[in-house]
Amino acid sequence: GIDPEHVAAIVAEPVQGEGGFIAPPKGYFQEVAGLCKENGILFVADEIQSGMGRTGKMFAIEHWGVEPDLMTVAKSIAAGMPLSAVVGRAEIMDSVHPGGIGGTYGANPVSCAAGLAVMEIFEEEHLLEKSVKLGNTLLARFKKWQKEFTLVNEVRGLGAMLGLALTRADGTPAADEAKKLAAYCYDRGLIILVCGIYGNVIRVLTPFVITDEQLEKGLSIMEEGFKAID
Ligand SMILES: Cc1ncc(COP(=O)(O)O)c(C=O)c1O
Repeated sequence: GIDPEHVAAIVAEPVQGEGGFIAPPKGYFQEVAGLCKENGILFVADEIQSGMGRTGKMFAIEHWGVEPDLMTVAKSIAAGMPLSAVVGRAEIMDSVHPGGIGGTYGANPVSCAAGLAVMEIFEEEHLLEKSVKLGNTLLARFKKWQKEFTLVNEVRGLGAMLGLALTRADGTPAADEAKKLAAYCYDRGLIILVCGIYGNVIRVLTPFVITDEQLEKGLSIMEEGFKAID
């Protein structure tokens, strides 16, 4: 075992991104955070992919009522402009000397302006509500595909952060088929991404500002793709 004295922090993604859009089992993060607290270990939530409303809450860790000591945020924080943030309890953040948390490209003014605009638009355009609605629409469609296509073995994720795990009849991960589907979609103007340690999970990360027509167009292309390769 590892002596807790030697562990400074535990870092985890509340919902795994690259790993395959995996949401944790019930109670998982309460246990992890409890263990950290008991042993004086910091709990760091990597919200880079799961944050900014993607799972239906501003930050995915909120689903479990856990307050991390530190949190990393990026990607949607400035709608694609290069910006990232380390957020945390004042006691920890202030323990570093002034300027001690930063980097060569930190606090780019244009990116910061984009970040502020994102915050405003989140409220004005009710993006969190849109995310919840988007998640429900995607889930209904994906569950339908799970029934229709033998390749679709599992619908994974949380809120609008959803993925489809593809497997063959013998249960092996269908990585080649996932690649084929991505290529089929790409040829028709739709970019979808593959993730997971076996490369067999199709992940969907549509912008919250997507119109119903755009969403339907994208989902139709995916559906036709499944019909073609299933
Ligand atoms: C969850 C998560 N954390 C961290 C990163 C790393 O970001 P970067 O390499 O841009 O610092 C990514 C990038 O995809 C990510 O998805």
